[in-house]
Amino acid sequence: MCKFFFTLLICVCSTLVQGQVIKSPDGNLTLKFELTGNGIPSYQLDFKQKSVIKPSLLGISTSDVPSFSEGFSISKTDQNSVNNTWDPIMGEQKTIRNNYNELLITLTQKAEKDRFINIRFRLFNDGLGFRYEFPKQPNLKYFVIKEENTQFNLAGDHKAFWIPGDYDTNEYPYTTSKMSEIPGLMKKATVDIHAQQPIKNLAIQTPAMMKTDDGLYINIHEAALINYPAMSLNVDAAAFKLSSHLTPDGVDNKGYMQTDAQTPWRTIVVSDKAADILASKLILNLNEPTAYKDVSWIKPVKYIGVWWEYFVAGKSTWAYSDENNVRMGQDFSKLKPNGRHGANNENVKKHIDFAAANGFDAVLVEGWNVGWEDWFGNWKENVFDFVTPYPDFNVKELQQYAKDKGVKIMMHHETSASATNYERRLDTAFRFMNENGYNAVKTGYVGKIIPRGEHHDSQWMVNHYIHVAEKAADHKIMVNSHEAVRPTGLHRTYPNWIAQESARGTEFEAMGGLAPEHATILPFTRLMGGPMDYTPGIFQTDLSYYGTGNQRVNTTLVKQLAYYVTMYSPLQMAADMPENYERFKDAFQFIKDVAIDWDDTYILEAEPGDFITIARKAKNKNEWFIGGITDENSRTAEISFNFLPEGKKYTATIYADGKDASWNKNAQSYSIKKLAINTKTKLRQKLGAGGGVAISIKEDADK
Ligand code: NOJ
Ligand code: CA
Repeated sequence: MCKFFFTLLICVCSTLVQGQVIKSPDGNLTLKFELTGNGIPSYQLDFKQKSVIKPSLLGISTSDVPSFSEGFSISKTDQNSVNNTWDPIMGEQKTIRNNYNELLITLTQKAEKDRFINIRFRLFNDGLGFRYEFPKQPNLKYFVIKEENTQFNLAGDHKAFWIPGDYDTNEYPYTTSKMSEIPGLMKKATVDIHAQQPIKNLAIQTPAMMKTDDGLYINIHEAALINYPAMSLNVDAAAFKLSSHLTPDGVDNKGYMQTDAQTPWRTIVVSDKAADILASKLILNLNEPTAYKDVSWIKPVKYIGVWWEYFVAGKSTWAYSDENNVRMGQDFSKLKPNGRHGANNENVKKHIDFAAANGFDAVLVEGWNVGWEDWFGNWKENVFDFVTPYPDFNVKELQQYAKDKGVKIMMHHETSASATNYERRLDTAFRFMNENGYNAVKTGYVGKIIPRGEHHDSQWMVNHYIHVAEKAADHKIMVNSHEAVRPTGLHRTYPNWIAQESARGTEFEAMGGLAPEHATILPFTRLMGGPMDYTPGIFQTDLSYYGTGNQRVNTTLVKQLAYYVTMYSPLQMAADMPENYERFKDAFQFIKDVAIDWDDTYILEAEPGDFITIARKAKNKNEWFIGGITDENSRTAEISFNFLPEGKKYTATIYADGKDASWNKNAQSYSIKKLAINTKTKLRQKLGAGGGVAISIKEDADK
């Protein structure tokens, strides 16, 4: 997959250099590393003479061996430059450039029998990645991490887009505030979420997005989170200092390490243009290429599901009966049916028909397997077996029905956060999938984790998710995990881990609603780590339509279309119910047409919390799609089509908010019109408050 490879190796081997400086390939970023008087490692980062990270200390404290915090001297430094490209299996662009200058510092603790560690810095044009490495050596084999003490000292009271630090959930709404305001806002920001475990001292999660008063955009996250707990950021709001806060386990340790070992990369993406943050491929570049030999079975998936009706319509349930106190192994066919079970043969067939008629790859069916009666809220270990269907879901019959129509049924494994039970049953569950023609699974981790004391984001669980992805790969199965740890670009290494939720997604539109600005922040935060199964496409935005309450989805219908472009994922759901798509067939055409795998991406306009307009070229096709969204304010998008190749004519189909449309009034009002365009065309397009625009573009056939 490596197109060409160019490596320049300059080895600066010296024994006593105390300060080191490298620049990004374009010279805009400067990284300086030095040791303090006590031999504590310190780094700082500047962008075009502006400070991004002021001198900040590095180190790791341990609970068994002496800590890796001070008394270091530099024993060796290496510099290295890499400039190559690689092609992701699926992605926002066909080819990704990987261009950085590297500084590798070897630090020795003389007082600890010459124990040594490495700190490796990679400086790209779009930011910095660095990690701690613990090579094999005589006096360092095993150690237990108490805390990582990586500081990110910021240069001012930046505006931050943040969610509360939590060991178990990322499903918080975003708060936008100055750093100094975080303490006063934390209580309000910490809304109730099932099984949440907010961090006790003041902390926020990554990816943390910030903007400085003088227009720098800074994003802090991590890459390649493997065999290590996820990192949150402690906040010293008065001094504008952030520092790493790792997720503990049940005995309050953070990480169990054995040399050769390394931490994940700590990432700081920086630019004076917001669009560059969205375009950054730094996190992916810091992940390892996949070792999978055959990836031909990993494919983009556009799907519908027996799903949204569980949240809004009040007509159906995951559970087959209203009895509770059920137990795995009992005869579920003896349960008294509640008559509202959604995953029944007839309803599933209806969905398969709809998927086949409209070109979808798959139908997700939740609630097909026994055990849903009484698990929610009970910290029960053995809830699901992942192989026994309810009596009204005929696995073989439905499989054949789907196969005849060229559609897949997507498996659902809600684990109830009982990872132990899931691991015990995983082989059988995946074999069952192979035997019955399933090639993709949506997993879920709702609830408090078992093993008890572990957290969704702790080292043990981080390893669990990867174990599931690897096992799934053995069975040629793609995985879409919900409630798993936030992604860190591991879809490069485990490309069958095709998407994740790991944020507040569409389901919350039915549970209190999402702020109109929410989706203008997600690409700058959660999506920095990888594709999101946001589950867009809700056309019936006013939920009082179902007679079950007066909630609404806080967007216009057209904004839901735009999400297919603004919210990158090679796995995209059309989340509304088929009958709602039948009512708006002309708008639904966009969801049918839109690509989900791309040759190229052009970030046309972007400002976190305000608006995003993105154009993308479909993979291997002369078709382009544009999605533009705005927050609670209406706006005019300035769309220039200069990304289109010159000398050709194109027809754009523009799906626009109706004149009177906004997220809370006439949200379903829209217009669709065709426009002849070429590379010179410029369009000023009005978006309603909480609205959007979606455009599909085709090259005209030669006449
Ligand atoms: C939470 C997931 O996000 C949602 O999509 C799913 O329907 C429920 N859990 C049940 O598994
Ligand atoms: Ca969820």
